Amino acid sequence: MCGIVGYIGKKRAQPILLNCLSKLEYRGYDSCGIAVSNGSLQVYKDIGRVKALEKTLPFIKGMVGIGHTRWATHGEPSKINAHPHCDCTGRFAVVHNGTINNYHELREKLTAEGHTLVSQTDTEVIAHLIEKYYSGDFPGAVEMALHELEGVYTMIAIMAGEHRLVAARKDSPLVIGIGDRENYFASDVTALLDYTSRVIYLEDGDIAVITADSINIRNNGAGIDREEHKISWSVEDAQKSGYEHFLLKEIHEQPKVIRDTLSGYISAGEPAAELAGDGGSMDDMLILACGTSYHAGLVGKYIIEKLVDVPVRVEMADEFIYSGQAAAGSRAVVITQSGETLDALKAIKKLKETGCRVIAITNVVGSTVTRTADRTIYLRAGPEISVAATKTYMAQLIALYWLALPYAKVDIKKLDSLVTELRQLPVKVQQVLDNEAAVADCARQLAGYENVFFIGKGINYPVALEGALKLKEISYIHAEGYAAGELKHGPFALLGEKTPVVAIVAQDNTHEAIVTSIKEIKARRSPVLAIVSEGDETMTGLADMIVTVPRVDPLFSPVVNSVVVQLLSYFAAKERGCPIDFPRNLAKSVTVE
Ligand code: M6R
Repeated sequence: MCGIVGYIGKKRAQPILLNCLSKLEYRGYDSCGIAVSNGSLQVYKDIGRVKALEKTLPFIKGMVGIGHTRWATHGEPSKINAHPHCDCTGRFAVVHNGTINNYHELREKLTAEGHTLVSQTDTEVIAHLIEKYYSGDFPGAVEMALHELEGVYTMIAIMAGEHRLVAARKDSPLVIGIGDRENYFASDVTALLDYTSRVIYLEDGDIAVITADSINIRNNGAGIDREEHKISWSVEDAQKSGYEHFLLKEIHEQPKVIRDTLSGYISAGEPAAELAGDGGSMDDMLILACGTSYHAGLVGKYIIEKLVDVPVRVEMADEFIYSGQAAAGSRAVVITQSGETLDALKAIKKLKETGCRVIAITNVVGSTVTRTADRTIYLRAGPEISVAATKTYMAQLIALYWLALPYAKVDIKKLDSLVTELRQLPVKVQQVLDNEAAVADCARQLAGYENVFFIGKGINYPVALEGALKLKEISYIHAEGYAAGELKHGPFALLGEKTPVVAIVAQDNTHEAIVTSIKEIKARRSPVLAIVSEGDETMTGLADMIVTVPRVDPLFSPVVNSVVVQLLSYFAAKERGCPIDFPRNLAKSVTVE
């Protein structure tokens, strides 16, 4: 986690660094800082957000600098632990994204050698190592320092009075932005959209030195050319565009995301062929992911099992690393919107060691997963800034439908009608969004409670899990997602007037059973908010609140129902005055274990 940025060119670095950092805050936002070289190094840092730091800063003249926005791993969020970190002389400063595993030994060694380290962070050792190895060659000293490090150490170093920045990529992302007589480093292209659309994605082991008009990359001691890419995301994609929060904007973008993701696949042919075995058929399947992507994977299980009639196993990537099993030669799908989640990357490593073929589904071009998987299927959700995933989850669902449909064991008439419905989903999602005010009313009522259950059955069970995750994440209301039938096996003990239940009532073979569950819940006096399909009257007089969604084939019901639980969480969080886009303790890409 953490966002890092560097600038060198003909403009004042301070406003550029701050602007880039504000775009990277989704990666961490407990503290931040910048270091600018103006002859000597000017270092300013503090706890809190970039906007707050900006207000405290003087006018800094230098045209080369680095910046950092932090998600604490080693040491609490504090001014002293905020990056950049400097050496004893104040000539070198570094910003770092990752964790240095051997920092304890390095720290002890450096201290014994007379260095004074002032923070609790692992990062500070890098600055001191550079100081230790510096004898006139700044990039050389950085390279020697890096040789001592074990762990994840994507970093940028600056030296007072030097017109060069030196950066390294190791296990977390780093891009170079190419400008007109100016160059940039950033954790992610979204930071650079205001300045350039030309980028180079660095690879693991790369050490890059940039000046205002040159870029030199080395790997394993040898110079190397890396391809330049053009970013297709626009500045507007990464702005709120009149919405109060990115989250609401991203929820509202979902009709477009469905269209874009589908049209990308239609124009590219059939990515689904990637999933076919040598005989052109889809065999059993393993899906791995974390968090919301895991929930999308669970929906995928129902989609594939229902349509293709093959067994699908979905596992949390973070658990699979330790206890999962995969057959050599089998195929696995890893879903990660950011493409940087360490647990997902570790799962891929294990899969590859087992001899599996890995297909990644991700939203971020150039992300680490795209280099580690055998094949990548891209989502076309555009940049997702809010920490809570919404539109990327929607794109993941669409990708999974698209992957399964070519193997569907249904007659051609049914297949045609499913494809037609898939293409109509943007209209259905828009109808849910048009009903936003009704959802907001219910959310305002939910906002007054401290514990909420979400229940679903069958293909909507993962939607219940996702609803609970979203509500917890952004409104800080404790929520649990349950398969409706499971609630009576223990959680019933918690039901009562103070514990509302959000019930997803789908028009499929689970309908009768969930209605029965709701009756049992009502008998325990829990308020019930039912999400029902148009024309379903079973909840009238039973549920306390009802939200109606357009009718779709039951297979697509997670699409419309998910939008309702997203909106519920958003409006509940808004009612409670939560920092919706940047919930406490979280970060968008989780690059640590
Ligand atoms: O980038 P990924 O899809 O791999 O991220 C996985 C989870 O960290 C992520 O979905 C997380 O649960 C979100 N904050 C949920 O909104």
